[in-house]
Amino acid sequence: MKLRRWIAAGAVAIATVGALNVAPATAGRSYNPADQSLRNLALRHGLAIGTAVDLTALDDPADPRYRQLAASEFSTVTAENAMKWESLEPTRGTYNWGPADELVAFAKQNNQRVRGHVLVWHNQLPAWLTSGVEDGSISTTELRDILRNHITAVVTHFKGRIWQWDVVNEAVSDPWDTPSTLHYKGFWAQHLGPGYIADAFRWARAADPHALLFYNDYNIEAFGSGDPANDKTQFVYDMAKDLLAQGVPIDGVGSQGHLGTQYGNFDTLQVAGALRKFAGLGLATAFTEVDVRSQLTAGVQAGDSNEINPRLQASAANFSVLLQACLAERHCLSFTVWGFTDKHSWVPGWFSDPPEGLATIYDENYQPKRAYQEMKADLIYSGPPYVLPRVPQKPRR
Ligand code: G3I
Repeated sequence: MKLRRWIAAGAVAIATVGALNVAPATAGRSYNPADQSLRNLALRHGLAIGTAVDLTALDDPADPRYRQLAASEFSTVTAENAMKWESLEPTRGTYNWGPADELVAFAKQNNQRVRGHVLVWHNQLPAWLTSGVEDGSISTTELRDILRNHITAVVTHFKGRIWQWDVVNEAVSDPWDTPSTLHYKGFWAQHLGPGYIADAFRWARAADPHALLFYNDYNIEAFGSGDPANDKTQFVYDMAKDLLAQGVPIDGVGSQGHLGTQYGNFDTLQVAGALRKFAGLGLATAFTEVDVRSQLTAGVQAGDSNEINPRLQASAANFSVLLQACLAERHCLSFTVWGFTDKHSWVPGWFSDPPEGLATIYDENYQPKRAYQEMKADLIYSGPPYVLPRVPQKPRR
């Protein structure tokens, strides 16, 4: 009896591995049991593993490891800055496609998909645009035309080469903003009203019928944090539901996943619950900018392992929570880290008082950290019945 059960279990396991091996390949490759890279291990689940790419690092001949790992470990790439408006159109009417095109070519060469980041955001806008609005030389009507032209020009330029576009980024306020009641914040809402969000998705769809169109934001990993009447995840959920009800072509919601080990954060079930709720609207999801930073206390900076180890472990645990939740939800299509090495991370430059860092999965010398190993373990030790291959998302018309 026991033996029969073992044989049955073995047959199921063999059938499962067989099925997983022929699961739809992500970005044109199929699972290779001999390859232990994150991108290959994730193929068993049809999941894309991505990174933000710093073009300066990618092109630095003195730093070849960056390029090697960006190619070998990841199946999707995002330009950390090169597709932002100030990079693409620093002078009005003159586009600088060079660095962004280079990334798209790198992705093609390495069989990677591209997440386009970002079409509409209130940060990293070119000075000609913000100052023109400020001094009144650009009217509201003209601003709307400028936005439509920008989206059309950028999406058309990259047409057919972008898998997922972050169409609108960080449109919603945080509870610490004024007023503290959640609202549409920033340059675009201020000048055009919240209707710009629906417009942006429609303009993007008109320019590329095949790209998946995402809304992207931070602090939306789970429902129920803080005041339930002022829950950012709920606000974004309601917004997405409302856009869908209006027939707006939104295909997905990107949860950035910028976490810090000093905060409470969430468990896997809470995060998976949020992804499932978005999927219930018919939307794909993705983790789009994951990193988990820590405060660099005097002890950390002095190399005190009593202070360093708990931070590295907590960081790894948080990467794992988000990845496991993504694996568990079949509509979670990709898991992207916001830079893969502490050598090139936005965190130390951004959080200096108190200083923060240690946010990525490789250290400054490209040694894989515990976070990398936990991600790898999550990808290896998961499968049916709880983790099943992804369900592809069809672009909404
Ligand atoms: O290019 C200039 C360079 O010429 C100059 O010498 C240098 C001096 O500071 O600045 C360089 O620009 C910096 C740019 O990154 C490129 O490195 C900007 O100062 C710096 O502010 C900018 O930071 C970026 C940040 O967005 C700006 O908002 C980070 O690299 C980038 O990682 C970060 O990414 C955002 C996502 O797009 C959206 N979600 C949050 C995420 C983290 O803030």
